This record gives sequence, structure tokens and C-alpha cells, in this order.
Amino acid sequence: MKKIVLGLLASLLLAAQLTAGEGMWLPFLLRQLNEAQMKAMGMKMSADDIYSVNKGSLKDAIVQFGGGCTGEIISDNGLLLTNHHCGYGQIQDHSTLENNYLKDGFWAKTKADELPNPGLTAMFIVRIEDVTQAATAGISENMPEKERQSQIDKNLDKIKKTFVRESWQDVLVRPFFEANMYLIFVTETYKDVRLVGTPPSSIGKFGSDTDNWVFPRHTGDFSMFRIYADANNRPAEYSKENIPFKPRHFLPISLDGVAEGDFTLVMGFPGRTNQYLPSAAIEQTLQTLNPVKIAVRDKALKIIDEAMRKDEQTKIQYSAKYASIANYWKKWMGESLGLTKSHAVAKKQQYEAEFLKKINAQPELQTKYKMLLDQLNVNYKLLQPYAFVRDYYSEVTRNTELLSLVNTMSGLVKIAENSGEQGFLERKKKTLEGLKDFYKDYNVTVDKKIFVALMEMYFKNVNPDFIGDKARQQLAANKGNFEPLADKIYAKSGLTQPEKWLNFIEKASAKDFLEQIKKDPAFEFGKSLMDQYVEKVDTRIREIQPEINRLQRKYMKAQMEVFAADRVFYPDANGTLRVAYGQAEPYEPRDGVTYNYYTYLDGVMEKYVPNDYEFDVPQRLRQLCEQKNYGIYADKNGKMPVCFIASNHTTGGNSGSPALDAYGNLVGLNFDRVWEGTMSDINYDRSICRNIMVDVRYILFIVDKYAGATRLIEELKLVHPKR
Ligand code: ARG
Ligand code: GLU
Repeated sequence: MKKIVLGLLASLLLAAQLTAGEGMWLPFLLRQLNEAQMKAMGMKMSADDIYSVNKGSLKDAIVQFGGGCTGEIISDNGLLLTNHHCGYGQIQDHSTLENNYLKDGFWAKTKADELPNPGLTAMFIVRIEDVTQAATAGISENMPEKERQSQIDKNLDKIKKTFVRESWQDVLVRPFFEANMYLIFVTETYKDVRLVGTPPSSIGKFGSDTDNWVFPRHTGDFSMFRIYADANNRPAEYSKENIPFKPRHFLPISLDGVAEGDFTLVMGFPGRTNQYLPSAAIEQTLQTLNPVKIAVRDKALKIIDEAMRKDEQTKIQYSAKYASIANYWKKWMGESLGLTKSHAVAKKQQYEAEFLKKINAQPELQTKYKMLLDQLNVNYKLLQPYAFVRDYYSEVTRNTELLSLVNTMSGLVKIAENSGEQGFLERKKKTLEGLKDFYKDYNVTVDKKIFVALMEMYFKNVNPDFIGDKARQQLAANKGNFEPLADKIYAKSGLTQPEKWLNFIEKASAKDFLEQIKKDPAFEFGKSLMDQYVEKVDTRIREIQPEINRLQRKYMKAQMEVFAADRVFYPDANGTLRVAYGQAEPYEPRDGVTYNYYTYLDGVMEKYVPNDYEFDVPQRLRQLCEQKNYGIYADKNGKMPVCFIASNHTTGGNSGSPALDAYGNLVGLNFDRVWEGTMSDINYDRSICRNIMVDVRYILFIVDKYAGATRLIEELKLVHPKR
């Protein structure tokens, strides 16, 4: 008897081992679904310590930072840690030629020196509840999609209005499991978030684009902020009178690091994943959509890179834009590589075969779900040509600045035509602000080259039926040559003449504006592309997509029913608070190569290239390294750790998320994934999917030894769980 039980336990543990790592779990369901496995993997706290409504728990130390990143509270005075790349915009805003914080770093000497950031927010989750019943009240199985959605919208409206909460709290309701489940989040959003400190880019962005998505990594990707609150500790707009926020919980910091196999937990706000696509959709991503997006960005990036290398001014104007275009360009390449290498399509097909086998064995399931996969396949096929143009159009217009500008102007045209003079003036004011920002970093020569290259691709590869007559006529008038077309458009358009155009807009009435813009050759061209796209492509997508959504919803439900005994499901990321857990471990990116799970400061010095814009190392850091002046932050072998990897399932939005040890102490700061594993958004594979974190000891070493900001160190709670 005992033997059998032990055997069973062993096989359960084995199953746990195999699936561990995958999943972005809902914090309020951990106790039911994950706690046992987490403990088996080494966790020493309870699910209650991670998420609790009744007492302070880990979730009370974690915020969505600036809408798209994650941050965590590390002191009783609201001190917040996030990535350098998450605070980049704010650091840039405070930087001038004299006080260049991007270049030199910044450390507020006292609280009074901490810098306010209008518009920056930090959102806490107070509690999470399941509202599926109320959200789907009055819905029936065979209701048309439109009717269904409008009933749900009504329900959600009512829930949001009536859900009990304090006056300073908000609520968010979001669909999960392809809208089979609805959850409500009660939130508190703080609006006075000040910049406290940042290392120079040569530390915070060390390795820049070359090292982005890459391991071994040596980036100190962190910055510090502080949340301020009103006298009652509640959210308030910026005011001098505000005081440091008192959290319900803040993270103690472990100085002991992680060893191979140690339990790690990452908690934050992952943005978007697609784990439950049918094989046909993965194939579409791999064969059609990723190649389009990569090819367009290839061209744009080459042109920008060449221009930046030639001219310092262009480099300043385009480096942030370059980084943002390059980020996902590189990610998609890694994703395609990983999907291919891990045979993701074949694996999904196998899974689908298994699904069919199971439903065919049960008549009741068979009648319900028999046609499901076929219907999904049919609809993804239907979508294919339109999805291709959608991604093409979106990439060429996003990367050709003049065409993006046309899209902005077309928004203003709509207002001018429909909202009267007053509406026009209001919108114009906003547009003007955006325009001024835009023109500061606009280089016509670079943009014109991009226009020529991308339009050549677009006209060559996109079905002419999807390209507007006007645009095709403009091209024909130039004998099909893109250079003279671009010469004319860029020379004659008002939009390429910043000063004149700003002046004109400033004074223009709705009528003046409409008259001028409608005869602008850039507007004519861009609008023609856009109108045809909307009419011939977007309209079709709007018909097909709801059907796909309906089928995905049904497929999700079916999978959860059919595989109920075999696996536990987690919902796709959707920008809400999640928990991922795994272990610190190395990986094999390719045959014969193993990456260790830690990197050290010595590695920074190995990569050092004097005065290089990616791999320069500040003199003071070189000195500290030479003297091995690591203070209390060295590991037990006297080395200075920099980054480490683990098998936590993360995605964009998890930037800045805390990496915690078995006890819930902070050990690292999540900021990236390894290239070979970026396909985890579609197909997590524990053998090659790793998230990358900067070791918290490196962060403290920089704050303390490099910057001398000891007043911040004094606020922290440093612990030694392994001693
Ligand atoms: N790849 C990381 C994330 O998606 C970091 C991006 C910022 N760093 C950079 N070198 N572009 O967003
Ligand atoms: N750098 C990403 C972010 O900004 C996190 C890396 C990832 O996609 O996993 O959220």
C-alpha cells in the first residue's frame, strides 16, 4: 500500500517537474491550482503570502508602472524599483545638455530633489473577483456575436457602476480564457511618482541593441522612483504637500542570490500571449506574418542605421526610434527561429489529433465540438490574405513617418468635417503639441529614403486591388519609379516643412485646413492607401475576426473540458496581474553550447569597448571592478554577479517585475528573455525559454558603491535567508 502511494506521489511530482515553468497564473487561484507544485519546487511561503485580501501580501508591493511596465515597492517610504528602459521617457524628459541624466545618471540628494513626472502612474491591485455570472447574464449559446457582445457590454457597464469600492478606487473588468471568464480588479492608481535615481545608460542600457534579447547579458537595467500620496496615504495629483506613500507590504531584499535549481517567482503585468492558437494560426504567424514584419523593418532599420552612423544630429533624433523598431524586429526573428526549432506547428497538430481522439471517444463531446478545429482552420485561411495586407500596411505606414503623419492629419480632417469649429480648435491644440514633438526628431532625407524603399515593397507584394487608384495614378505619372514620386511628394507637401506647417496649423480655421490638406500630394497619396485598405481589407477583417473570436472561445472551453484530467490551464496574458514560477537554470541554445545561468562584472569588462555607444564602461565602474571594491554585495566567491536566467514564463509588460526567492525576498529585476525562447508567447518550451533578470546585488552595488546614494540603501530591508 505504502509503495503504491509513494509511486503515485513520485509520478505526480514528475508531472509537476515536467510542466513547471510554463504559465502566467492568476494570483487569487494559486492556492487551488498551484500551491502544491510551487512547494514541491522549493517555495517556502504560502499562496496566502502572495495574494491575500485580508492581510498585506506580495501583491501589495507590486504596481503596473506607467501603463506598460511593472514596478515594486522596496521600502516603507514608497521607494519603487523598475527597469531603466521603463523609466527611459521620464529620464529623457528631465535631461538637458547641461544635466544629461541619460548620459551621466541621476541621484536625488534628498527627497526634496526627487523629480515629478506629470502623467506617470503606479497602479496597485486591491482585490480580484470572479464576475463571470453577472458579465454573461442574458447570454445564450446561439446568440449572434454582435448581440452577445452588446449584452455583455451592458452587463459590464452595470457591474462597473455598481461594484462596491472606496471613492478613491477604480475597477477594471477583463475577459479571460477567450472570454469564458470575466474578472474584476479593484485598483488604486497613484499619480505622483517621482524620479529618485538612475544609473547612466552605459550601465542601464549596457549592450543596447546588440545585446537586446540576448544572453549572456550584462545590463544594469534599473531605475528608482518614489510614490507620493496625500495626507491620508491616498492617490493624489502632484503636490508639494504630498508625502511618501506607506505600502501595505514592501519587499525585503536578499543578498544571497540564487543557486542552480532555486525556486524563483516573477509577479507582474504581462501584456499579451497566444498560447491556445490552432496549428493553422501558428503556421500563419511563421510563414506569412512574421516574415512581412521582419522584412519591412529590415529595410527601415538599415536606412536609419546608415544615417545615424554618418551624422551625430541624426543619431540623437533617431536612436530611441531605432531601438523601438529594432526591439520587436529582433523578437520576431527569435520567435520564428524558436517556433521552427521546437517544431511548434507539428506539436500543435499532435495536440489537435489528441483532442479529436478524445472527443471522438465521447458522443456528447463529439456532437458539441466535432467541427470546431475545421471551422477554425477555414476561418484562419479566409483571414490569411487580409492579415497579410493588414500587417504590411501597418508596418509601412508606421515606419514611414510622413505616412504616419498623414494618418494623424486624417484624424483631424474627420474632426474638421464633423465636429464644428470649436471641436476642431480643441483637437488642433492637442495635435499641435504632438506635431512639435514629432518635428524635433524628424529628418526628411532619412524619411524619404524609407518611403522609397517601403513603397517599392508594398506595391510589389500587395495585390493592386488593395492599393488605392489615386496612389497608383501618382506612381504611374512617374512612370512607375518611386524616386521621382518621392521627390515630388516630399518637395511639394506642406507636411515636410515643419516651420511653415506649424505656423499654418496654428492659425488655420477648419475651412482653411481642409482646403490646404486636401490638395497636399502626401495627403492624397497616403489617404488613398488608407481608404482602400479600410474598404477592402479592414472591412473584411471585421467580418472574419468576430467569427474567429467566437470559435476560439468555444475551442478554449472545449480544451478545458476535454483535457480537464490531464493539465491545468492558465489564461493568456492580457495586461493583468500574474504569477510565473520556475527555477534558476542554464540552457542549451544550440548543439554543443550551454549558457551558464549567471554572469559577472568581469564579463562587463570583457565586452568593454572604449567610447562605443553600446559597450562603453564608465571609468568609475572600471575602477571599482579593478579594486574588487564590491562591499557587501559580492557573492560567496568574492565575485560581483550581474544577471541571471530562470524558467519563468514572462512577456512584454513583465519588464520591471520583481524576481523573488522561495521566501518572497527580492533577488532580481526581470527585464528581458533569451532570443531562442521568445516563442514562449505562443509555445512555451522549458528547454529553451528563459527570462533574464538583473541581480539585485548588482543594483545595490551600483546605488551604493558607484553612485554613493547611501541614503537609499538605508531605507531598505536587507536579509540573508541562506545564512
Ligand atoms: N527586449 C526588452 C523588452 O522587450 C528590452 C527593450 C529595451 N531595450 C532595448 N535595447 N531596446 O522590451
Ligand atoms: N523587455 C520586455 C518589456 O519591456 C520584457 C521582456 C519580454 O518581452 O519578456 O516588458
